[in-house]
Amino acid sequence: MRCLIDHRKVKKPLPWEDILVEIGFGRGEFIVKLAEENPNKKVIGFEISGISIEKLLKKCRELNLYNLFCVHMDAFWGFYFLLKDSSVESIFLNFPDPWFKKKHHKRRLTSERNLNLFARKLKKGGAIRIKTDHLPFVEWTLEEAKKLGTFDINFRKVDRGEPLTKYEKKWISMGREIYALDLIKVKDPEHELDVSIKEVETLFPVELEGKEFLWERAQNLELRLSDSVILKTFRVFEGEGTWIVEALLSEEGFVQKFFFEIRKTKRGLRVDIASHSEVIRTLNLQRAVETFAEKIAEDV
Ligand SMILES: C[S@@+](CC[C@H](N)C(=O)[O-])C[C@H]1O[C@@H](n2cnc3c(N)ncnc32)[C@H](O)[C@@H]1O
Repeated sequence: MRCLIDHRKVKKPLPWEDILVEIGFGRGEFIVKLAEENPNKKVIGFEISGISIEKLLKKCRELNLYNLFCVHMDAFWGFYFLLKDSSVESIFLNFPDPWFKKKHHKRRLTSERNLNLFARKLKKGGAIRIKTDHLPFVEWTLEEAKKLGTFDINFRKVDRGEPLTKYEKKWISMGREIYALDLIKVKDPEHELDVSIKEVETLFPVELEGKEFLWERAQNLELRLSDSVILKTFRVFEGEGTWIVEALLSEEGFVQKFFFEIRKTKRGLRVDIASHSEVIRTLNLQRAVETFAEKIAEDV
C-alpha cells in the first residue's frame, strides 16, 4: 500500500515540489510510464474508480516504483486538500469524460472552477496538458480558460510515440482526430476560489449531562448547518450502552460519510465521531457533532 496516499491520514498539504499529476489515470498506462521516465519527481494520480486504484497499486508493487502515488478521491478535492500552491509542474488530463449533454458540462474537469484551483497549484510556467478526441470539449475548455486570464494556450501536434492509453488507442483505431493542448500558467487567477473548508487539528466530543438518548430523533435527520452545509443521518444501530448512527455531511459539495457514536456515561451521554470513521477533520464536522447532539437527547 506504499503507493496509496490516504487523504484522511496524511499530513496536509504534501511538502513536495515540482509534482507531476495525472487526473483520471484509468488503467494507469500513462502514469506508470511517466513515473518510470521521471524517477526524481513525485508523480501523483487522482482517481474516483476503485478498480483503477487497485490496478495501479498492483503495478506499483510489481514494478517497485517508489515515486508513484495515487489518491482515491475526486481530483478537485484532492488538489484542494493535498497540494500546496505553486507545487505542481504538470497536470495531465488524458481523454477526460467529455460529458456530452449541456446540462452536465459543469461536471467537466476543465470547468472554470476546476481550472481556477488547478492554476493555483501549478507553478508559473507549469501546464495542464490535455488530450481529447472531442472538439466541442476543446472549444468549451478554451472558453472556460479565457474567463480566468491565467493561461497561455498552446496546441501540440500529437506525438504518436507518446504513451497510448486505452482511450487513445481506441480513438486512433477508429480513425478519430486527437487534439492536444497545453494551458500554460502565466499568472495566478484573479477570481477568488468559491470554496473555503477549514480543517481542524482535533474533533471534540460533546458531553450531555443528565440526558438520555432518543434514537427515533437521531435517524433520518436533515439539518442545514448553513447555506452550503447539510448534515443527513440514516439508520441507527444499537449496542450495549452505545448507539451508532450513519451520517453524511456535505460542505460546499465535499461529501463525507461517517458514523456518530453515542455512548452512555455515568453523567449522561457522550456524542462523538465513531473512531472507525475515517474523515478529514473539518470545522463543519465539529459543528455537525454539536448540532446533532442538540437534537437527539432529552432530560432523564
Ligand atoms: C474516459 S476515462 C480515461 C482514462 C485514461 N486517462 C485513458 O486515457 O484511458 C476517464 C477517467 O477519469 C476518471 N475520472 C473522472 N472524473 C474524475 C475526477 N473528478 N477525479 C478523478 N478521476 C476522475 C474516471 O474514473 C476514468 O478512469
